[in-house]
Amino acid sequence: MTPQPYKSFADSYDKIMEGRYVSLGWHAFQRERKRLGLRFTRVADLAGGTGEAALRFARQYPVTVVDRSQAMLARARRKMRGLTLLRQDLRNLKLPRLVDLAVCVYGGIHYLTSLRDLTKVFRQVRANLLPGGTFCFDQFTAHGLKTSYGGGRETFVGKDFVSIWTHRWDAKQSRSIIHVEGFSRRGKTWRSQPPETHLHQAFSLAQIRAALRVAGLKELRICELRSGRKPQAADHQRLIFARRIP
Ligand SMILES: C[S@@+](CC[C@H](N)C(=O)[O-])C[C@H]1O[C@@H](n2cnc3c(N)ncnc32)[C@H](O)[C@@H]1O
Repeated sequence: MTPQPYKSFADSYDKIMEGRYVSLGWHAFQRERKRLGLRFTRVADLAGGTGEAALRFARQYPVTVVDRSQAMLARARRKMRGLTLLRQDLRNLKLPRLVDLAVCVYGGIHYLTSLRDLTKVFRQVRANLLPGGTFCFDQFTAHGLKTSYGGGRETFVGKDFVSIWTHRWDAKQSRSIIHVEGFSRRGKTWRSQPPETHLHQAFSLAQIRAALRVAGLKELRICELRSGRKPQAADHQRLIFARRIP
């Protein structure tokens, strides 16, 4: 079994991602929220990692961040007081109170590597939503994953870290495999970080729709993330809204 990622990598991840995708995702979410006329009172940020999305929501709503990585939650804790942080696996999600918005953004959904797990998580999401509550998540399409993480190497360099991502596309399993390694600096000493493997599973629109249906969630809207237009084969990323059927 592949060990769970986001241990040694948590620190560099946060520095690489900080502010990078948040604005894009946030604007897309707000655009669609307005279009659908949605309102919320309590939010859960699922696979919320270092809390980048949660920080935005927390300006308006009480937010619970759920993640299985202790290192990621530790970073979220340092960013803001008042967030409720829960260390849980989404497959066994159990929130202290039902919410009327559950989000899973910036690629959290790709860490579910089978349709069975995807459906399991959707069922848990439904069970933790108030009747009529909304579930919103984003996803890379297979085309998007292949284009962004389908073969090659990226190196990210900060003043106290270097992170090297080597990736390939596994056509048989329909997923990207990303090997992450790097170095971090404490004082004058550089240390190598234990390597991690990140699997990014692609799910087709048909699979997503089937999993939502089986879980008792009704599709509200699926669109291309940046533009908001209807899904097309050439899409890289999509945004999906569903509602708990009472
Ligand atoms: C790409 S990061 C997204 C982080 C976050 N949404 C953000 O705003 O930066 C993926 C996160 O999903 C978490 N994760 C992956 N699989 C999970 C699972 N089964 N249950 C809970 N968390 C999970 C990882 O620990 C990691 O923090």
